[in-house]
Amino acid sequence: MVYYNTHTDLYTTPAVNWRDTLSCVLSPRPLHPLQLPSICRDIIIKYTEYVKKLGLVLFELLSEALSLNPSYLKDIDCAERLYMLNHYYPPCPEPELTLGKSGHYDSSFLTVLLQDQVGGLQVLYENQWIDITPIPGALIINLGDLMQLITNSKFVSSKHRVLAQKTGPRVSVACFFRQHFQP
Ligand code: OGA
Ligand code: NI
Repeated sequence: MVYYNTHTDLYTTPAVNWRDTLSCVLSPRPLHPLQLPSICRDIIIKYTEYVKKLGLVLFELLSEALSLNPSYLKDIDCAERLYMLNHYYPPCPEPELTLGKSGHYDSSFLTVLLQDQVGGLQVLYENQWIDITPIPGALIINLGDLMQLITNSKFVSSKHRVLAQKTGPRVSVACFFRQHFQP
């Protein structure tokens, strides 16, 4: 399934999030390539392969960190379902009036986030919003609600947000290992 959304929160928030998003359900059922816009088709397919491989390594490491068999989290299907959000945050003339993405927790087991050099991502740590400054070539790994749930809070989900900014556009790609809401 592929969607392109703008103003997803138009009727539910006082100020709409300053962002457009292309979303795709990538796994377990592979997308038919023609469902993807041609401009980003090949790169999404290629990038997805790498994210799946990275996800398996991360789930192994997290299993070991929990003193479990390395294949534990994979065996209970944490790596089975992958969802991708491709965000486009246009420059915002009045950034103090809204956000690029409001404070939230990811519902995923874990999220692999690629951001460009513009910045604006923040994580809530000890009641303060901390900038996650872009590092070229680095990915951000974020644990989500499902990970907190299945580990009885040994790992906790982190709250984060993206500021609206005058500079831009900002582009990011978030890949969620999660459960899908659709059957
Ligand atoms: C998300 C998210 C951050 C970003 O999609 O859940 O937190 O940098 N994205 O776009
Ligand atoms: Ni998020």
